[in-house]
Amino acid sequence: MSRIVHPPSYPAAARPPRGRTVRFWFDDRAYEGVEGEPLAAALWAAGVRDLGRTEATGAPRGLYCAIGHCFECRVRVGDRPDRRACLEPVREGLRAYRQAPPPPLASGDRGAPA
Ligand code: FES
Repeated sequence: MSRIVHPPSYPAAARPPRGRTVRFWFDDRAYEGVEGEPLAAALWAAGVRDLGRTEATGAPRGLYCAIGHCFECRVRVGDRPDRRACLEPVREGLRAYRQAPPPPLASGDRGAPA
């Protein structure tokens, strides 16, 4: 019969130090996060799952890979578009926004060579 071993619980003094709490904004709404944590993680902790819209259908986009590969979490940070929220560190006063999808291609322009 195997024995279940639970991980030890550490006293508060032995835990890694937690960063300072900072205030940031997402779509002009204030949130708090831990300085340096990914923006997507701070938003996830606050219950925000919808980070933008897909270009093709307008369906909500959100955290998917969480390691910077899929670009599903793109947001605008200040005036910089296409920032990956899963890689963008939270900092005091950061202002991020859901991005509007780009306008549709002109009629007949399907991106295929003529
Ligand atoms: S969730 Fe995939 S790049 Fe951010």
